[in-house]
Amino acid sequence: TQDTLILGIETSCDETAAAIIRNGTEIVSNVVSSQIESHKRFGGVVPEIASRHHVEEVTLVIQEALDQAKIDIEDVDAIAVTEGPGLVGALLIGVNAAKAIAFAHDIPLVGVHHIAGHIYANRLIQEMSFPLLSLVVSGGHTELVYMKEHGSFEVIGETRDDAAGEAYDKVARTLNLPYPGGPHIDRLAQKGQPKIKLPRAWLEEGSYDFSFSGLKSSVINTLHNAEQRGEIIDAEDLAASFQESVVDVLVTKTARAVKEYEVKQLLIAGGVAANKGLRQKLDEIFGEMDGIELIIPPLSLCTDNAAMIGAAGTVLYEKGKRADYGLNANPGLEL
Ligand code: KG4
Ligand code: ZN
Repeated sequence: TQDTLILGIETSCDETAAAIIRNGTEIVSNVVSSQIESHKRFGGVVPEIASRHHVEEVTLVIQEALDQAKIDIEDVDAIAVTEGPGLVGALLIGVNAAKAIAFAHDIPLVGVHHIAGHIYANRLIQEMSFPLLSLVVSGGHTELVYMKEHGSFEVIGETRDDAAGEAYDKVARTLNLPYPGGPHIDRLAQKGQPKIKLPRAWLEEGSYDFSFSGLKSSVINTLHNAEQRGEIIDAEDLAASFQESVVDVLVTKTARAVKEYEVKQLLIAGGVAANKGLRQKLDEIFGEMDGIELIIPPLSLCTDNAAMIGAAGTVLYEKGKRADYGLNANPGLEL
């Protein structure tokens, strides 16, 4: 049988990325050009700057992915590109690059949902076994996704306001830490004690939804109130308390869903999966649990990349999904 080679392209936010994936499971090449340095001084991603970077980088990154894989574009079976969700101007660059190359070389085109990509990053580590549950935690998303088979996604819970990573970044900003703030809060949290009382939003009985804006506001209020009283709050303790609250809610709801849906695997996805406190707690709860396999990809596959888009795109391609040249960026695309 012949190998399937897919070119993945990702430009939904602040990474311009391209990758070559063999048979949906193997990374042949994986190139990521990050713009974090350009956005840092603004304290967050500036859409207009992101688009400009993508325009400058996208063809270079694609060529680099082909070069590293030592193949020509004609060797590729299909091009898989993130069509949404994300920043519309950023998505458009990847979608148009993919369409142009597909048209010029008559190569099939597949549109991929960014979150499907995050989930399929796990398949580059370990083959999937169904049914499975995925906890997706990134700067833009906090979702629990149930999968009964390849390419089938059921969102059983999602954030009603801030995403987990967004809450980290906003709290970090209040503490005058640089963007992206998640890793900085994580580092502080390792040194502090969770002794400041902060809320946990469990929402209605049985709900798998999340809410982090109340927690975020509570951290900001705690800081401001202390400031007004002339007191100094220990940043390490505050970070530890915030992190404990986030991790507690994420892991407790995930554990409940794992039991209710009787899944075989728990896949972790998205940039917040880098969090030490979250990893520790997941290991503690699921590491030794009978009948469930916990998979957490390495950091480079948790944050935005195109290998994950190629992996998800392979499954869609094999299922016969095709996009025509009318493919458009869809910032609000549903999973
Ligand atoms: O998946 P990702 O690279 O981009 C999106 O699709 O959003 O996730 C980026 C998010 C940022 O909010 C960043 O602060 C957060 O992941 N993050 C972390 C850690 N490392 C990255 N949050 C908490 N702890 C970390 N160690
Ligand atoms: Zn992402």
